[in-house]
Amino acid sequence: MKLIVFLVVLPWVAVFARNFSQDFDLTWGSDRVRILNNGELLTLSLDKDSGSAFQSKNEYLFGKISVQLKLVPDYSAGTVTSYYLASQGSTWDEIDFEFLGNLSGDPYTVHTNVITEGKGDREQQFRLWFDPTADFHTYSILWNPHVIIFYVDGTPIREFKNLDSTKVPFPESRAMRIHSSIWNADDWATKGGLIKTDWSKAPFTASFRNISAQACIWASGSGAYPCSSNSWQAKQLDAPSLERLMWVQKHYMIYNYCIDLKRFPQGLPLECAATT
Ligand SMILES: *[C@@H]1O[C@H](CO)[C@@H](O)[C@H](O)[C@H]1NC(C)=O
Ligand SMILES: *[C@@H]1O[C@H](CO)[C@@H](O)[C@H](O)[C@H]1NC(C)=O
Ligand SMILES: *[C@@H]1O[C@H](CO)[C@@H](O)[C@H](O)[C@H]1NC(C)=O
Repeated sequence: MKLIVFLVVLPWVAVFARNFSQDFDLTWGSDRVRILNNGELLTLSLDKDSGSAFQSKNEYLFGKISVQLKLVPDYSAGTVTSYYLASQGSTWDEIDFEFLGNLSGDPYTVHTNVITEGKGDREQQFRLWFDPTADFHTYSILWNPHVIIFYVDGTPIREFKNLDSTKVPFPESRAMRIHSSIWNADDWATKGGLIKTDWSKAPFTASFRNISAQACIWASGSGAYPCSSNSWQAKQLDAPSLERLMWVQKHYMIYNYCIDLKRFPQGLPLECAATT
């Protein structure tokens, strides 16, 4: 029997991968952003004078964004490498992965946050179950109308649900760009700011490859959503995924704002009641 495969080109779903020259702009740090291997590899560096950053040309409203990232090796204390989605304006939305560096041999902290309408304070922090400087690993953000899920190598580490957006705002109307940067944050990043960046070890370099966005491109003004259906659009965590999430949270979560009663003496944020 002959199998016929129809290749449907969906108008609003972009799946791009592996070419940093075409789909991204350098936004900060001039030659500290380097695109190598014909657009397949991008490196960001930090030195005493400046950090560096890039962002996607397109804006998206919902999608699954992934990148393979290899973090600054050895002494990375004081440095922060970030990978996030963000909209613009004073009531912006943002979904963050930040990687807080450390002394040689000490573990990185993965710091996550969800900011809605300009308000964050929703940090969860994790250790990783591997050395993120030894090789590339995949970090993904899935963002659809129901949920935001953070993944590391396909394992969900955090979810933020759309509960009742009249009570807890959920990012669902502002298109976001993909951003990435490296900068000096030695006033807070490592052991609360006690350990400083060692400039004699600069430049500090993180590498990115295989960035992909299965996402609805926002055509300014026209409102591209809803875009064609796709596996990530209806996605919520199924029972096995939820089990893996719980496993990560049990063994690798080192900070959770949802149990930080000291920080929220007036009561925990509303969404915490429904958090897994
Ligand atoms: C990536 O894009 C650039 C600029 O458009 C092009 O010169 C290069 O050949 C592309 N690389 C690959 C691997 O397709
Ligand atoms: C750095 O390593 C120390 C010692 O293991 C740890 O307590 C700390 O959380 C690590 N990360 C940061 C960002 O300080
Ligand atoms: C590139 O990323 C995509 C999406 O995350 C993934 O399916 C694919 O396996 C990756 N390719 C390589 C060579 O790692």
